[in-house]
Amino acid sequence: MAVQFEDSFNRKFYYLRLSITDVCNFRCTYCLPDGYKPTQKNSSFLGLDELHRVVAAFADCGTSKVRITGGEPTLRKDFTDIVSMTAAQKGIEKIAMTTNGYRLEKHAQHWRDAGLTNINVSVDSLDPRMFHEITGENKFHQVMRGIDAAFDAGFEQVKVNAVLLKDLNSGELPAFLNWIKDKPIQLRFIELMQTGEMNSLFENHHVSGVSIRNHLIANGWIMKVRNQSDGPAEVFCHPDYTGEIGLIMPYKKDFCDSCNRLRVSAVGKLHMCLFGDYGVELRDLLQNDAQEKALIGRIQSALASKKQSHFLDQGHTGMTPHLASIGG
Ligand code: GTP
Ligand code: 5AD
Ligand code: SF4
Repeated sequence: MAVQFEDSFNRKFYYLRLSITDVCNFRCTYCLPDGYKPTQKNSSFLGLDELHRVVAAFADCGTSKVRITGGEPTLRKDFTDIVSMTAAQKGIEKIAMTTNGYRLEKHAQHWRDAGLTNINVSVDSLDPRMFHEITGENKFHQVMRGIDAAFDAGFEQVKVNAVLLKDLNSGELPAFLNWIKDKPIQLRFIELMQTGEMNSLFENHHVSGVSIRNHLIANGWIMKVRNQSDGPAEVFCHPDYTGEIGLIMPYKKDFCDSCNRLRVSAVGKLHMCLFGDYGVELRDLLQNDAQEKALIGRIQSALASKKQSHFLDQGHTGMTPHLASIGG
């Protein structure tokens, strides 16, 4: 193995979030409320060979988990090939995806067969009408059938993301808890994060996850220990529940201390943080296998400038217009 990716705060990077497209077919109020507007021609997204070189370089420097993200990653016709390519890479043990779930019902089995190991699906409400209101799509039942299909295909656990939105879904905690009682779902409540293009939504609907945390602790939920390549959620379990609850609270002090992930965008830019100010061009070093050493060198020198925190609490959103742009 080449040198492990590490930054100047001694954080090590085991987890690559690889965006393969910024296109999405949903219109989530907190992300793409007016639907997807092309920012780059589809033809300019990294191709399979280029993606392979990204994954190989990261694997050679200690990455064991790759999450394929978008936009909506399954909008790419070669999505299954990207999963197979990633799964074939020596050193990559977890091949995860984050999806809005609209193609899950049809394809969960193919993706599992191609080597996918973990699925995260967004379900912001268990009320079909509220789901429609938040996502812009009347696809609640289709997404729920998709989750069932994932279990049928052999995924042992599915992670579900719900962005907490005051006055929209914030009263649904009892329904969500009931839903996961006998299902191996890790349901994660995500605090709304302010992004560059977001206007009054943040002031009107941001709500902290602290009250949910307090409720869980008061009701016998126990915090689990984090593993090396886990995402940022604080995860709680309960002896009476098959499912688990995760809380993603990016405004919490010290949130960034456990940062273990780097991002590569669909056009081949390395992002040191979801809310960074710039992306480092990698694409010119993704054109042939002989460039791997130079590629690793460029990533390592970029890491020297990774900041300690995202400074979100000071209203800093960096260059990120919405999370679809670099894959959340
Ligand atoms: P697991 O590995 O399954 O725990 O995944 P994850 O939580 O990292 O992935 P997912 O794509 O489901 O992301 C859930 C939420 O966490 C999204 O809203 C992400 O934007 C957010 N998130 C993930 N990593 C970071 C991060 O480094 N910083 C911030 N601020 N948010 C993050
Ligand atoms: N704040 C918090 N979570 C967000 N997501 C997208 N935009 C935001 C935001 N502004 C979530 C989606 C999806 C995950 C990848 O990111 O709901 O589950
Ligand atoms: Fe699409 Fe995900 Fe953004 Fe919703 S949050 S619009 S599903 S990229």
